[in-house]
Amino acid sequence: MQKEEFRKNKVNFEAHIQPETLDIMADPRLIEQVFINLLKNAAQALTEKEDRQIWLRARREATGKTLVEIEDNGAGISADALKNIFIPFFTTKKAGSGIGLSFSRQVMRLHGGNILVKSQLGQGTVFTLVFP
Ligand SMILES: Nc1ncnc2c1ncn2[C@@H]1O[C@H](COP(=O)(O)OP(=O)(O)O)[C@@H](O)[C@H]1O
Ligand SMILES: [Mg+2]
Repeated sequence: MQKEEFRKNKVNFEAHIQPETLDIMADPRLIEQVFINLLKNAAQALTEKEDRQIWLRARREATGKTLVEIEDNGAGISADALKNIFIPFFTTKKAGSGIGLSFSRQVMRLHGGNILVKSQLGQGTVFTLVFP
């Protein structure tokens, strides 16, 4: 489904999972929703771009925590909006619901983890999921 969407929208998707056997303890249905939200946001941030890239990187830190980064080279997020993106119903989209990121943060906290964001306007955005 996601692959088909990427192809249709000319998004180049690269996944780097290190090691390939990397696993996490989490509710698969909830975490799947988090991934879908983040990938959908990334794809939507790319529509005005010529070169459309999404990278997914997963690795285990020395501390034992697992980090999953989802990065796009899309529109980026203004410093003002960045303060609000995790607030329920905050959206900058015409037909946005503004629930994707607040839900995602809720899910990550439920798992004892967190979600972090770094963004540069016009350059792109990286969301990092931290699993304990
Ligand atoms: N990858 C991204 N690139 C740029 N802006 C983003 C990205 N992800 C989220 N945002 C910003 O955060 C807001 C909230 O996202 P979200 O909670 O998923 O709601 P929605 O997608 O319905 O707007 C978006 O409206 C957008 O402004
Ligand atoms: Mg969304």
